[in-house]
Amino acid sequence: MMKDLAATSLKLNDGRLWILDQQALPQQSLWLPCESVEELVSHIRALKVRGAPLIGLSASLLLAVLASRGADKAELQQSLLTLRASRPTAVNLMNNLDRMAQAIEQPGMAAAVIAEAYRLVEEDRRLCDAIADQGSELVKPGSRLLTHCNTGGLATAGVGTALGVIRRAHERGKVAGVWVDETRPLLQGGRLTAWELGQLNIPYQLICDSMAAVAMARGEVDAIWVGADRIAANGDVANKIGTYNLAVLARHHGIPFYVAAPHTTHDPACVDGSAIPIEQREPTEVTGVSGSFGSCQWAPEQAQVFNPAFDVTPAGLISGWVLDTGVVTPQQVEAGIFKQALR
Ligand code: MRU
Repeated sequence: MMKDLAATSLKLNDGRLWILDQQALPQQSLWLPCESVEELVSHIRALKVRGAPLIGLSASLLLAVLASRGADKAELQQSLLTLRASRPTAVNLMNNLDRMAQAIEQPGMAAAVIAEAYRLVEEDRRLCDAIADQGSELVKPGSRLLTHCNTGGLATAGVGTALGVIRRAHERGKVAGVWVDETRPLLQGGRLTAWELGQLNIPYQLICDSMAAVAMARGEVDAIWVGADRIAANGDVANKIGTYNLAVLARHHGIPFYVAAPHTTHDPACVDGSAIPIEQREPTEVTGVSGSFGSCQWAPEQAQVFNPAFDVTPAGLISGWVLDTGVVTPQQVEAGIFKQALR
């Protein structure tokens, strides 16, 4: 039997994996059981489970559950391959599954697979804490911070990455307020970040993505904090669609633009951002909106749609890469720090 485990958006109870449906939040807190690989892949693709670290952790924990139920090596290897193909952009999934693949090769496979999944969860918590500590040092007292998508406890096993920094800086009394981009098309900001900030009693104002420029032009944004799905060897960063817009705006307005991520989001095998696979999603996410609040399609039936889930922010627009291992500066990136493995 596996030990119980609880995080904001996933838990293990009596040997079963449960995920908090991030498409139903904040209208409903719906915990969904995850019994099979097919079920988890479907939840990942529907963004019921989402956020780079959480995708990797949920996949690893499901492999552990299957191992605890007696799955053999071939079955676990096949499951791992299916999970690996669930979403392409976040490298955390691939990195976690590489670790799980090694555990599958160990003598006493089931115990090794279970132990590795728990280790990954514990590590993620520590990485989040370290990022929050590093990042909050960069936040000046009285800051009005802007963030995009959701990078908090919902997206990780710990306090989060960019939102973890904001949370820690708020605990240290440095945050005057947070601008939350709603993050079209799937509204991770408007639904999830707004919900998390509310739970934490951190003051925020929700804006449509197109309003960020005005907030900056009015001098009401002191720094921008975003997460990452993959950091290439030249420092380019793939993150939620709309991140690149913010980086361009930040440069124009002279506002620092920080990326917060665990070192495990770095992928030295991608020479630059053009090598990062970008997930393309269904047109219906752009032609309308749907969720537990209801659904509505407003575009003409025949509308042609472009719907990349992520964009790439060039390294030259980034003021600092805030990792658990420390803050990487543009000068260090120019000198090639991301070209080698970080640990
Ligand atoms: O499509 P999503 O919601 O999984 O995209 C999430 C993001 O882009 C986050 O910024 C990133 O995964 C970091 S989460 C700590």
